Amino acid sequence: MAYVSFEYFDKAVGAPGNRLVEPVRKAPFSHILSASQFTIDDVDDFCQLADDFEAGFLPAQLSRRAVGLLFFQSSTRTRLGFEAATVALGAHAIGMDDMSASRSNAKIGESLEDCAAVVSRLCDAIVVRHHEPGAAARMAAHAEAPVINAGDGWNEHPTQALIDIYALRRGLGTLRGKSLAFGGDPRGRVVRSLMQLLRFEGPREIVFCPPDKYDIPADVLSAIAEFQIPHRRISTIETALIECDAIMMAPYDMSAIGEPAASDYVAPHATPEAYTITPEKIERTRSTALLYHPLPRFDEIAPACDKLPNAMYFEQVRLSKFMRMAVLHRLLSR
Ligand code: CP
Repeated sequence: MAYVSFEYFDKAVGAPGNRLVEPVRKAPFSHILSASQFTIDDVDDFCQLADDFEAGFLPAQLSRRAVGLLFFQSSTRTRLGFEAATVALGAHAIGMDDMSASRSNAKIGESLEDCAAVVSRLCDAIVVRHHEPGAAARMAAHAEAPVINAGDGWNEHPTQALIDIYALRRGLGTLRGKSLAFGGDPRGRVVRSLMQLLRFEGPREIVFCPPDKYDIPADVLSAIAEFQIPHRRISTIETALIECDAIMMAPYDMSAIGEPAASDYVAPHATPEAYTITPEKIERTRSTALLYHPLPRFDEIAPACDKLPNAMYFEQVRLSKFMRMAVLHRLLSR
């Protein structure tokens, strides 16, 4: 893997056992709104920095920084992941458990623009999740501090894409020449953001396993065409278990996690058998495909799979903290 090289200066920053040098990194981003803004060097840099954090690197200069967590839509991993990363960096997370209890809610009607203008004067970075596509960009246009898009409706989830690439690289060694399947609703923001980063990874193919009635979004298909990655559709997840190196699963219906249903074809907790992954299928196919999932899952991966060597989704969560530390470090090191 072609990681960018780093210069180091002699500055003691760590506790005994931790690395005692501070890497000099690239210029910070203004905002993180879309995975399409990243270069291959950015992705490599984030992955290297995440590795450094996992190995115990402690930055020195973030102790007086505050990160505003503005979650207008529910979240477990992203909300707590950014909070855990903020704490681990020695910075402070501020925010409300639920932004619908703030004055920036639909009932009182303070605009996202005013909310951004206010909160960005009280903290050093804003992490925003919202049900509206483009909400993070609207806030960024009026913010005095960097804005991180932590999921805006169906549009994008760029830090999840960084986490997914990092976890895929860790699991597979490299994605180059590998076959990656997508289970679940292909309209999801995770698919859209991850697709942007796959252009750097050289996969052999992308395999979609949606129900027949689901369309793959036109913008996702045009991105695949632009990046010249071969793709195909399959009709059962068992085919992916046999033929693919990794499967990025997602719910087949996202209405239970606050997104509109794609159709009435699949209910949130009644995924058709053709699309569920079970230990029996893994055993029958002797599959070595690695299983990823941004989570939450419903019934698309049976809990009995969790102990199998294929299951990478909880490791993906563990790695997410280091990647979010890397993202915050780069934004806060201004
Ligand atoms: N993966 C993810 O975005 O999970 P949350 O909705 O819990 O943040």
